[in-house]
Amino acid sequence: MAEEVARLTLAVLGQALLSSDLTPFAALAGAFDVAQDQAMFDMVTLDLVPPWIPTPRNRRFERAQRQLEDVASALIAERERDYLPGAGDMISLLLDAYRDEPDSRLRHRRLRDELVTILLAGHETTASTLSWTWYLLDRHPEVARRMHAEATEVLGDRKPGHDDLSRLTYTTMVIQEAMRLYRRSGVCRARRPVRTTSAVTGCRPAPTS
Ligand code: HEM
Repeated sequence: MAEEVARLTLAVLGQALLSSDLTPFAALAGAFDVAQDQAMFDMVTLDLVPPWIPTPRNRRFERAQRQLEDVASALIAERERDYLPGAGDMISLLLDAYRDEPDSRLRHRRLRDELVTILLAGHETTASTLSWTWYLLDRHPEVARRMHAEATEVLGDRKPGHDDLSRLTYTTMVIQEAMRLYRRSGVCRARRPVRTTSAVTGCRPAPTS
């Protein structure tokens, strides 16, 4: 099921964020797994293994990284070629944000890296949330029935849009409960800003307590 959900998530991410068909890039799911695994490894080993040592793990990660970067570059190049006026999606927003960057290599690199971050951040989190939700629904058919009833009542035969989210209250509760029970982001550590910004003074060190 995880594979099927990974494919679905990629397709939804592509349509919702990029107005692009990502299904030809199904192999990306493997690259996401490798990147995720590497992030966990670096976290657990406190970055003790330098990335330049050609261990099988490092070489695997390098390949995955290149694959992700190549896809991001291809998506950007495609959009630059066929500009979609008013698309309002993530690629358009990024292209607009970096339009004034004079260094074209830097501009491309930043765009590419932003897109890889969004793809990575949005893929695994969503795929694992959906996988756990379906696992739980399978174990609790009465909840699945209630969710389906809500979808029928709110949506009828049409596809859901953003405005429907606030009306799908039971569905929202189910997904939130799945995330509470099976939290994939639990490894993220708390953050404290090292600097705060002030319109008057610019950046200054944040208070320590
Ligand atoms: C169920 C789905 C999701 C969950 C549970 C989730 C959870 C999280 C968490 C816990 C963080 C870290 C926040 C922090 O470090 O303070 C994060 C960061 C982020 N998320 Fe999500 N997220 C989800 C979906 C998405 C989607 C669909 C996108 C893409 C549009 C996205 C984009 C990002 C980005 C760009 C970051 C910042 C990454 C960075 O540190 O540079 N997330 N998310």
